[in-house]
Amino acid sequence: MSVTVTPLGPHLGVEITGMSGGDLPTTAAAAACLETLARHGVVIYREAHISDSDLVSFSRLLGRVVPNPTGEHERAEIATITLDPAKTDATLAWYRKGNFLWHIDGATDQLPQKATLLTAREVDETGGDTEFASTYAAYEALPDTEKVALAEHHVLHSFAAAQRRAHPDATDEQQANWDRVPTRKHPLVWTRGNGRRSLLLGATAGEVVGLPPAEGEALLQRLLEWSTQPQFVLRHRWRAGDLVIWDNTGMLHRALPFAATSRRLMHRTTLVGEEAVA
Ligand code: SIN
Repeated sequence: MSVTVTPLGPHLGVEITGMSGGDLPTTAAAAACLETLARHGVVIYREAHISDSDLVSFSRLLGRVVPNPTGEHERAEIATITLDPAKTDATLAWYRKGNFLWHIDGATDQLPQKATLLTAREVDETGGDTEFASTYAAYEALPDTEKVALAEHHVLHSFAAAQRRAHPDATDEQQANWDRVPTRKHPLVWTRGNGRRSLLLGATAGEVVGLPPAEGEALLQRLLEWSTQPQFVLRHRWRAGDLVIWDNTGMLHRALPFAATSRRLMHRTTLVGEEAVA
C-alpha cells in the first residue's frame, strides 16, 4: 500500500496512511516520526493497528519509555486508558476523569514527558475524540508586550489542582491525600535549547507565584482560553487502530467526555522528558 502524508493545518497535525504497526519499529521509521513530530506536533498513523509489542518497541526507538508501576497491563510500559474500572486499575479509572481537562502529561515532574503515544483498541461513536492545542503557536501569536510580561512568571503545578478541577465534590480526605503529592514550580514560558517557546499550562497549573490567587487564576484561565482557540486546536476523531503521537511539551490535550461505561479503550506509552522547563 502506498504511504500518504497529509498536513492537517498550519500549526499542528499530520496524518499518515498506508503504514501498519509492523512497519513502525525500525530506526528509519522512528527517525522520520521524530522529524515529523518536531515539525507538526501531532502525528496520526491512521488505522495502523500496532500490536502492544510493536508499540513498546517503537516507543523505545523514539526515546526512553516511562515505566508504569500499576500493573494495569501485562507490559509495564503500557497504560490502559479507560474510565471502566473493570478494564483497568479502579482508582486510576476515577483519576482519569481528569483527562477531560486540558493538560500536559507529567507537568508536575521536573522534566515533563517528551511525547505520548496513544492507540485506539476500542472506539465509541458517541464520544471520546481527543483534542490537541499547540502552545507553541499560541505563544507565538501573543503580542510582544505580553510575551515580555509573561517571561517573569512561575507557576505551581500539582496533582491536587488537576483533581480538584476534575472532582469538585471530592471529600476532605481525598483532597488531603492529593495535597500530599509534591508540587512543582515551573516557568510559565518554556524556552527550549533551540529557541522555541511554548506556554506550560493546563489542569495542573494551580497558582502563579507572587500573584494573589484570584489574579493568578484569571491569568491562567485567560491564557488557556487563548491557547485553545480553534486556530490552535486539532480534533482527532478516532478509528479503531489509529496511533496518535504528540509532542507533549508543546501540545495541551484532552479527551472529549464519554461515559464511564463506554467501550472506549486506549493503550498508551509515554516517553521520559529530555529538556528541563527553563
Ligand atoms: C491522555 O490524556 O493521556 C489520554 C487522552 C485520551 O484518552 O484521549
